[in-house]
Order: sequence, then structure tokens, then C-alpha cells
Amino acid sequence: MQAMDMQDATVSCPVNIAAPRARMVVANWKMFGNLALCRESLPRLADAANAKVELVVCPPAPYLGEVGRLANRSGVQYGAQDVAEVTHGARTGEWSADMLAELGCRYAIVGHSERRDRHRECNQTVAVKAAMCIAAGVIPIVCVGETMEDRESGNTEAVLAKQLNAILQLMKKNAVFVLAYEPVWAIGTGLAATPEMAQDVHAFLRRQLALFVPEWGESVTILYGGSVKADNAASLFAMPDIDGGLVGGASLNVLDLLSIYRSAMI
Ligand code: 13P
Repeated sequence: MQAMDMQDATVSCPVNIAAPRARMVVANWKMFGNLALCRESLPRLADAANAKVELVVCPPAPYLGEVGRLANRSGVQYGAQDVAEVTHGARTGEWSADMLAELGCRYAIVGHSERRDRHRECNQTVAVKAAMCIAAGVIPIVCVGETMEDRESGNTEAVLAKQLNAILQLMKKNAVFVLAYEPVWAIGTGLAATPEMAQDVHAFLRRQLALFVPEWGESVTILYGGSVKADNAASLFAMPDIDGGLVGGASLNVLDLLSIYRSAMI
């Protein structure tokens, strides 16, 4: 690791950038969309966004400037889908948390399973990325989730605890972060977890959080992600420990996203 070691990565949030346990809907466009989608969606999202539920768009990085311009002075927040694990350096194709902060990003997704899988990101890398965000005043949306193999072999909780603990070890007590439970088997498959299944895991994650900092069990926002659609969002978001959603495919259709957003307003 360049420029900082693991010890230096233990950081606290410099500013109070989010209310505890906010309800949120986060659109993760992944590598989809174009300028036309930004220009079509953002004004409609801006009209709908209100203070009860945070609405966040995470477009591909090349569109962050345009999304920031369009979201300007609206209730819509925006963020990146990833961030580098160092502050600067010869890292072709990467960007730092400070750069995201300069662009007005409130959030950055870290540890998405697509990055863990395709880019071989380990728990340690994800933990450092989360810490870099917090140091820059960007709220990390930290993703954890088990594979179908993990679930079928009864290892869901052990896998999630390992992923989560690596991250929490680098957090100070006043750190502000969002957790997203995204079972890998539910991502892009149309096979969402049932509300009860997701609720069980969210309750487990709250117990794990509380082992580190008792208040975190109640105060941390935990989103569910994995085939959230307009027709299943309300039942998922009605669960007591699910605070909203991290939405992939359905977020590319502005009407679907707005419907999901309204479902979180309960
Ligand atoms: P889908 O909603 O397309 O299943 O994707 C979920 C996801 O990975 C969001 O980060």
C-alpha cells in the first residue's frame, strides 16, 4: 500500500454528513447509461426527491460531472461506484476519495461483489477504501454478501461477519458509513431474497455492528440490494431492519426507480 499504512487508515469522519439511520434508495447504474439517461432522469428525480428518504445516483464515473451539474441544488445526492485505496499516485484509471469530494459526491460504493470478484478485491482492500472515503468526507456504502455456495453450506453468517469485521476494525466510533447487504446470488438474477430472509441477515448485521460500537446496531443505515424491483421493493422496505435499497437494473428506468423510491417512504 502506498502513502499510508493500515494504522494510518484508521480515521474518523471530519464532518457530520449524514443523519443516523437515514432511509435511502441508491441507484447503481453500473456500466450502463449515457448522457441522455443522465439528462432524462435527473430532472425527474430532482422533482421527486424529498428529505424523508435520501435519493442517490451512482452513475459511471465519466458522468459524475454531468450528474453533479444536473443534481445541483436539488435533493438528489450522487456518488461513485468505487474509489482508490490511496490518496494519489501513478494509478492509471483510478480516482481518489478527495477527487470525489471535490466533485460534490456525498457517497461512494465500496466492495461491490462485482469488484470483489472481477478485480479480486479482498476484505482488507475494501476496508481501506472505506477508510479513505471517510477521511475525505465521503460516506462509503460498504457492500457485503454471500454467494449461493456460502448460503447452501450454512456459511452465510460466517462470511458476512468476516467481511464486516475487516471493515469495522478500521472505523472510529464517530465514523459515518452505510452498509449494503447484497447477496451475490440475487444480483442481476431476478431472484431477490425474500423479505424475511433479508430481514434475518440485516438483524444479524446489526448484532455484529453492536459488538463493535453498541449504538451502531441501531444507528447504521443498512440497505438491501439484489433484484430490487418496483413490485418487491415495498415488502422488502417494510422490514424493520431494512432502511432502503441499492438498486441495479431497475434504476436505469426512471419510472421504476421513482416507484421504488416511493416504496421507501413509509
Ligand atoms: P440488480 O438490482 O440489478 O440485481 O443489482 C443489484 C446491485 O448489484 C446493486 O449494487
